Amino acid sequence: MSGLITINTLKSLKQKGEKIAVLTSYDASFAKVSEQAGVEVLLVGDSLGMVVQGKADTIPVTVDEVIYHTANVTRAVNDIFVIADMPFMSYATAESALINAGRLMKEGAANMVKLEGGHSQLDTVRHLTAHAVPVCAHLGLLPQSVHQLGGYRVQGKDAHQAEQIRRDALDLQDAGAQMLVLECVPSALAQLVTAELEIPVIGIGAGKDVDGQVLVVYDMLGIGSDSLPRFVRNFMQENNAIADAIRAYVSAVKNTSFPAPQESY
Ligand code: KIV
Repeated sequence: MSGLITINTLKSLKQKGEKIAVLTSYDASFAKVSEQAGVEVLLVGDSLGMVVQGKADTIPVTVDEVIYHTANVTRAVNDIFVIADMPFMSYATAESALINAGRLMKEGAANMVKLEGGHSQLDTVRHLTAHAVPVCAHLGLLPQSVHQLGGYRVQGKDAHQAEQIRRDALDLQDAGAQMLVLECVPSALAQLVTAELEIPVIGIGAGKDVDGQVLVVYDMLGIGSDSLPRFVRNFMQENNAIADAIRAYVSAVKNTSFPAPQESY
């Protein structure tokens, strides 16, 4: 896709049933190669704490660090849509969320911010939206809650939890969220939520019946950790160059050959 990608472009891809290819990015070189390979959205994820900084989880990541990496990414690209993650505790109150989201947009030049959580975040999402901050919500497995969850586990497996995720998704959309990331949930639940929402739903470990896919770029290039979850495919296995691997990822997302059933829950 060429030309400026906006939230309206992404909504119209959902309406047309064309899948959206999303990758994480933390620096100018990977951002540029991803844009050239046809990725539509780059996420400057707080996964940077693990894959760039080598930390055990995403908890220690700071707003200044996400701004630094977001600015590196946005400086390098022309047309692509860039989402910046709000780190742990940077949105503990609606007021602190507004200040930190404003910095991610002003200093990092992000087009949208992403935050984790359901009903507890509704006021914050309303507050950000009322101040012209575009919000991507994040449900399912919430990595910033890893210590509360007791590990990285599939979420929404029982009927009660699944209904809570479905309700949270609808409420977040009503509160103004313009995109949703669904992480590590059963494919059937992701399919249901995607069909019910008007906003694009981007899955990671959520099966193929969502509006788009996201992966951590180092994971899909096979240079992430040794113990990767089943939803990660190594696209370097059949490609000799990073640009080709990212092109193969975009094409597999678009033609729905990724994720396969064995890469889903
Ligand atoms: O931080 C991150 O990279 C993310 C994606 C894995 C969805 O939140």
